[in-house]
Amino acid sequence: MAVSVTTHEARLTHDGVDPITADSFEVVERGLPSALDGEIVIDVRFASLDPSQRIRLRSESVGFVPPAGIVGTVVDSRSDQFAVGDTVIAPGAWATKVCIPAAAAERYEAPDGVALHHAVGLLGLTGLTAYFGVTRVLRPLAGEKIVVTGAFGGVGQVAAQLIAASGADVLGVTGGPEKVDGLKRLGIPAVDHRRADWLAEIDRWAPDGLHAVFDNVWGDASARLVERLRPLGRVALCGQMSGIGEAVVPPLPLDNWFRLVTRSLTVQGFRAVDFAAENVAARRALADMIASGALGQEVHVASGWAAAGSAFADLLTGRVVGKLIVEV
Ligand SMILES: NC(=O)c1ccc[n+]([C@@H]2O[C@H](COP(=O)([O-])OP(=O)(O)OC[C@H]3O[C@@H](n4cnc5c(N)ncnc54)[C@H](OP(=O)(O)O)[C@@H]3O)[C@@H](O)[C@H]2O)c1
Repeated sequence: MAVSVTTHEARLTHDGVDPITADSFEVVERGLPSALDGEIVIDVRFASLDPSQRIRLRSESVGFVPPAGIVGTVVDSRSDQFAVGDTVIAPGAWATKVCIPAAAAERYEAPDGVALHHAVGLLGLTGLTAYFGVTRVLRPLAGEKIVVTGAFGGVGQVAAQLIAASGADVLGVTGGPEKVDGLKRLGIPAVDHRRADWLAEIDRWAPDGLHAVFDNVWGDASARLVERLRPLGRVALCGQMSGIGEAVVPPLPLDNWFRLVTRSLTVQGFRAVDFAAENVAARRALADMIASGALGQEVHVASGWAAAGSAFADLLTGRVVGKLIVEV
């Protein structure tokens, strides 16, 4: 039977190439057409706000509703795959309800003891990105000295814990005492890159240099870390937060790219999506670690879409403390 519902969407109030501020989105109500054959309507419970949404916005204009990874409940189904009441994860949008092809959604059963919001964080894009970046790209070895930048962000928290679990010696680089304390709660020592002496701290921690860097930021700070890599050192390049607020992606700063030759360094970029065939196994491995208490993620929750715009503007300037999610 057709179900008629309304949704509340957060829409761009200006062209996406312009700077994002707390006023860049307005919440608008509209009727959502009933699901057509092969579609489902999802009542969104939690959504992930990610830096990549800003990259997408650069080419969008006023009225655009950003995409978001969501977890929610099926409230209308014209698909054999899902019944009303099923919990699903899906590529959704900044909205209270979304209508999408059923083929794009996955049934979701929260593993024992794992709160539902982790579906869009630890077990969502950020957890999977950290998992593939660490296990498939960085490949830490026991005893190595490895630094993670943006370490209290959604990806950074998980990457740092996975590296520690591998037996390597990990140090987080993060901005501000609140984030340093947050990492300590997760068992990860950290330095504050806002302090003038942070590089001296790194040098004291790794007097013989770094084996590897898991980099979420690549700005001047990351360039200083690359200069501290030992011969055969490596960088897993996950993202470029340092340029996230810009209209175009700035080039990666490094004073001397020839260092890659003189130190036999490897810089490998990666995208989690390239490992998507392994998502189910990766989620299971992450869920096992959560259940055993070996893995956690601290979150910053924005309550409802009306609060999302200003939280997202904060994310783009590094002011959010923890992985940003919206409780819808
Ligand atoms: N490769 C992939 O498949 C993939 C998938 C998902 C995400 N990513 C990328 O991974 C990176 C981290 O994502 P995330 O979800 O962890 O983001 P997040 O939760 O917003 O954390 C990012 C961290 O970057 C740091 N940062 C440093 N300079 C910044 C600046 N100029 N502006 C804003 N933040 C700055 C902030 O930490 P401090 O204040 O502590 O420095 C912030 O906590 C992003 O670049 C994202 O695009 C890549």
